[in-house]
Amino acid sequence: MVNGKNKILIVDDEAVIRELMTDILTDEGYAVESVASPIRALDVLRDHPEYVLLFTDIMMPDMDGIQLIREARKIRPTLIPIVMTGFATLETARAAVKEGAYDYVLKPFSLGEIKLAVSNALERYNLANENARLLELTELFNISENIAAIRDESLLLNFVLKAALDRVSAERGSLMITTPDGKTLEVATSIGVPDAAAKTTVQVGSGISGWVAQNAKPLLVGDIQETPDLVEISRRLRDPSFISVPLERKAHGESAPSGLSDGQRVIAVMNVTQKKGGGQFTESDLKILSIVANHASVALENVRLIRDIQDAHLTTLESMALLLEAKDAYTHGHSQRVSDYSVMAAKRLGMNEQDVETLRLGAALHDIGKIGVKDSILNKTEKLTQEEWELIKQHPVIGYDVLAPVRFLTREHLELVRSHHERLDGSGYPDGLKAEDQSLKVRIIAVADSYDAMTSSRAYRRQLSLDYVASEIKRCAEKQFDPKVAELFIKLMQDGEIGHHTP
Ligand SMILES: [Fe+2]
Repeated sequence: MVNGKNKILIVDDEAVIRELMTDILTDEGYAVESVASPIRALDVLRDHPEYVLLFTDIMMPDMDGIQLIREARKIRPTLIPIVMTGFATLETARAAVKEGAYDYVLKPFSLGEIKLAVSNALERYNLANENARLLELTELFNISENIAAIRDESLLLNFVLKAALDRVSAERGSLMITTPDGKTLEVATSIGVPDAAAKTTVQVGSGISGWVAQNAKPLLVGDIQETPDLVEISRRLRDPSFISVPLERKAHGESAPSGLSDGQRVIAVMNVTQKKGGGQFTESDLKILSIVANHASVALENVRLIRDIQDAHLTTLESMALLLEAKDAYTHGHSQRVSDYSVMAAKRLGMNEQDVETLRLGAALHDIGKIGVKDSILNKTEKLTQEEWELIKQHPVIGYDVLAPVRFLTREHLELVRSHHERLDGSGYPDGLKAEDQSLKVRIIAVADSYDAMTSSRAYRRQLSLDYVASEIKRCAEKQFDPKVAELFIKLMQDGEIGHHTP
């Protein structure tokens, strides 16, 4: 049965046939419209998406039925055509079926034949629709599941844009992020966009992305003529087929969260253009992109929340490490300096940003295990007994054990804490690791730690001269220190980039 939205269109140049068909189908409860010419039929299909079934004659003056089917399918690929024919054109009708007509009925037709043809065709239409909808839902479900599993913001944005382009068969697109002040959009990732355009920033309120960010509404170009302030922009677009959707911050109520302007409510804007094969984007593409954007905004907010929690957690740990040293004039600032020296060396050695950050944090926390060693031993000015020395040597393991349950720390962070007193020849502690088991990060922190110890005063001695420190580092290269790292520290000292710190 046709529901209120689905209609049947009859095309025949003979008025008698049009009337007969209209009577039969109307009596059966279908919504029917009939026209005399194929050109008129195409106009109707263009303006009215509710037609799902097309009955057409074959021989008509200005366009034959087969050509009409071809043109109609361009307008609505899901349309189901049925041809009506007499015996004389039976072969042509069969050819029409090969060309994409679903069925044919022979004139003069009986009521039963028409009823059967329509119910079969609609059943097929509904099945095809249902299948397409299920397929779409499955795809969207897969995308949303994958999106939710990503924990890194830039990986997330790349995945979202790629998935969106795939779903709507688009060649080009970009994802723009709203800056914290809510005034500007910056391209965070793009596909198929020239380099210069990929670096563009846009003011919220200007251009298409800016309009979408300001109004928190999706936009399908085609609607654009109805939005007066966008008409001028649409004229400047190279490709007129364009979709732009907002990624919105999820508020608990309907309105923007308190204290936020509308610009800040939209956290990103996704732009998609250039439909494959030169086609136009449709309302259904817009719906799909809005669903993807909806899932993406939840995921993006989660990733950012987790990052904030992680930052807060790690900053607390760093503060604890600082506090631990703050009460002792001799070790005051030691971890911070070891961290600074390590970062400087890592950058000189060409480490990437993420590795430098791992080293920075690992170095800032490296002595946190001293919390488990008595102050009376740590601050002792006389020579340590063997037993006391063994207790001090526990601090890398204590630090490791304290930090191991912290979810935000990686194996590499923990390795830096545990292994900063290892030596290249395997004579270090706590594990006596051999050179091949010590990463470059561990080798850097080992030199940085010793360097700071030597250039700082201790309860039992004053800080050592820089010449002496340089000669010590040189002497210990190969056996204790990585020679390249040792050489780098000596160079940094000679160049005056590091030296005695002010106590
Ligand atoms: Fe240490």
